[in-house]
Amino acid sequence: MSPVIQVRGLRYRYPDGTQALDGVDFHLDAGECVALFGANGSGKTTFVLHLNGLLDGEGSVEVCGMPVTKDTFVKVRAKVGIVFQDSDEQLFMPTVLEDVAFGPVNLGLSPQKAAERACAALEKVGAAGAIHKAPYHLSSGEKRRVALAGVLVMNPDVLVLDEPTTSLDPPGQRDLVKLLRGLPQAKLLVTHDVEFARALATRAVFFERGRVAGEGTVNEIVQRFSWSRALDE
Ligand SMILES: Nc1ncnc2c1ncn2[C@@H]1O[C@H](COP(=O)(O)OP(=O)(O)OP(=O)(O)O)[C@@H](O)[C@H]1O
Ligand SMILES: [Mg+2]
Repeated sequence: MSPVIQVRGLRYRYPDGTQALDGVDFHLDAGECVALFGANGSGKTTFVLHLNGLLDGEGSVEVCGMPVTKDTFVKVRAKVGIVFQDSDEQLFMPTVLEDVAFGPVNLGLSPQKAAERACAALEKVGAAGAIHKAPYHLSSGEKRRVALAGVLVMNPDVLVLDEPTTSLDPPGQRDLVKLLRGLPQAKLLVTHDVEFARALATRAVFFERGRVAGEGTVNEIVQRFSWSRALDE
């Protein structure tokens, strides 16, 4: 079975000279759920931004067998749904409903059908109450939920979630785990939340200075890199 994401030798340097990725090899198989750990600044978000062509580094990125290039952007973005670390970069329409319906409308659905799909997605993430609000009036946890709805509504083949539990209250985190467990898509979860990763991921990858420094089960990686937040040790 060919992977849904295959990355080889990916390097990226920001215009100010920061070498954020320094030769990343990575794959994600269909239906697999992988946690991506690593210190602040180790390149996780930079990596994620390459998976649908928002950044364009050296090396190769393939999604469902398609190389990610300027020519394949549109197709790639239909396959990979990314929930960004910063929800403010994701939400831009005047109301939550319009925001979540934006993708389906762009696919050519009628406003009515698009709104129905958007409502269902908002219901799934527990944000139906915010439907007529302006996204910039939402709390940060509400924004995270709406951003996730905007991705789920497109039913992509691959879900990439960058710090999805940030700002979610504990019941919200539990609901997210349940929701994600019920979704058949391959998932890449960028997270500092070990419990969240344990609940979902069958494999973990650890980034260090823009490289994959280790790979294994979540427990193996947590142990090997002392990746615990216990404060009393
Ligand atoms: N636009 C930018 N211009 C210059 N440097 C950047 C830019 N964005 C990120 N960087 C740098 O690239 C490196 C990787 O950043 P990145 O955001 O990918 O890290 P991260 O692993 O996602 O961290 P975190 O856990 O804090 O989210 C960091 O050194 C960061 O300072
Ligand atoms: Mg990040």
